[in-house]
Amino acid sequence: MPKNISKEKSINRTKTTVELVVCAIFLGTAALIGKSCIDRSRIVPATQNEGKKVDEITIPDPSEAIDPNKIIFTSTPVNTRAKFSGDLILVNNDYQYYTTGEEDLVSIMSMNDENGRTSFTAVDYDYTILSNVYKPLAQMVDDWYEIYQNDTLIVYGSYRSNEFQQQLYDQFTANTSGDGEAPIVAPPGFSEHETGLAFDFSETVGYDYQGTDDFLWLNENCAKYGFVIRYAEDKEDITEYRYEPWHFRYVGIPHAKYMTDNNICLEEYIELLRNAHPYNGEHLEVTDDSGAAYEIYFFPSDDGAEYTNVPVPTGLKYDLSGNNVDGFIVTVHKDEKVSIGAENLSVTTAPPSTETTDSEITTDSTETTAAY
Ligand code: DAL
Ligand code: ZN
Repeated sequence: MPKNISKEKSINRTKTTVELVVCAIFLGTAALIGKSCIDRSRIVPATQNEGKKVDEITIPDPSEAIDPNKIIFTSTPVNTRAKFSGDLILVNNDYQYYTTGEEDLVSIMSMNDENGRTSFTAVDYDYTILSNVYKPLAQMVDDWYEIYQNDTLIVYGSYRSNEFQQQLYDQFTANTSGDGEAPIVAPPGFSEHETGLAFDFSETVGYDYQGTDDFLWLNENCAKYGFVIRYAEDKEDITEYRYEPWHFRYVGIPHAKYMTDNNICLEEYIELLRNAHPYNGEHLEVTDDSGAAYEIYFFPSDDGAEYTNVPVPTGLKYDLSGNNVDGFIVTVHKDEKVSIGAENLSVTTAPPSTETTDSEITTDSTETTAAY
């Protein structure tokens, strides 16, 4: 090998070694700078967080960041007796209705007059219904009337006093031979009509409402307005009443939607919420036809205490109803943000009492006096 070539190789080797060393130094320095940068990006300098340990204030990994859609719950004391009232109370042969004597009733015909509404009528001005039920009832009938222009629809049954229900029951039992058919009149104290949440439709030609022809629309679309056909044809063994296509019961839109979509009656729905959707379990998620989202859960009543501390959302509207059996159902309106403290103005809350005795509340469904 010529010497100059060998020398050139030797020079090249030396050059390569020097380059490698320089490169290594450069890379090492860069790595240290880089590490320092990474560390700074993860740790808020102690000077900004005096007294706090640096490792406690690392910036959260975005994947672990708090979900802004997650509902934050707090608890609110609710009078335990409120479990006997609300849109979702179950009133049937097992669970009596305990009247407050303060139901917020409105005359259907007076309301129609006030609003210039001619799409339907009631038997007379004494036919009343809960004020929060009138609005969806009227909206439903207006929407139906718009399509069919049928002016024969009449509310033939609505709120009934206990005495009136007794009269109807006496008449019905006197005229029934005991042919084994399921009844269509509830005993006094056990009728949904006493709650003001239910009404019966009829029509003014034959006074026979079967939910057919023009009226089929009402029976098929009532869930959109918060109503269910309470005594369904295939649920007679559970409800213990004959199919009543004329009897509508208000429960609220998400509940009516879920019950209708899943073909379950109120008895089954109350049981489902209690068993499958307690507060500490998986809440029921429902989206209504307008796209509004709801989260629904059950919370048991603290029957030994005057108040039950019910978990409720903060900053979101919610409804609270008793189930008339053993607790409360909370319906969170997930799209309706409200200021903290204004979530549900209809829930009467009070500081929990420490001087409550068990005798102050009764859950005995056979008791005949009002418990609330
Ligand atoms: N028709 C229903 C069952 C009632 O009388 O309440
Ligand atoms: Zn009825």
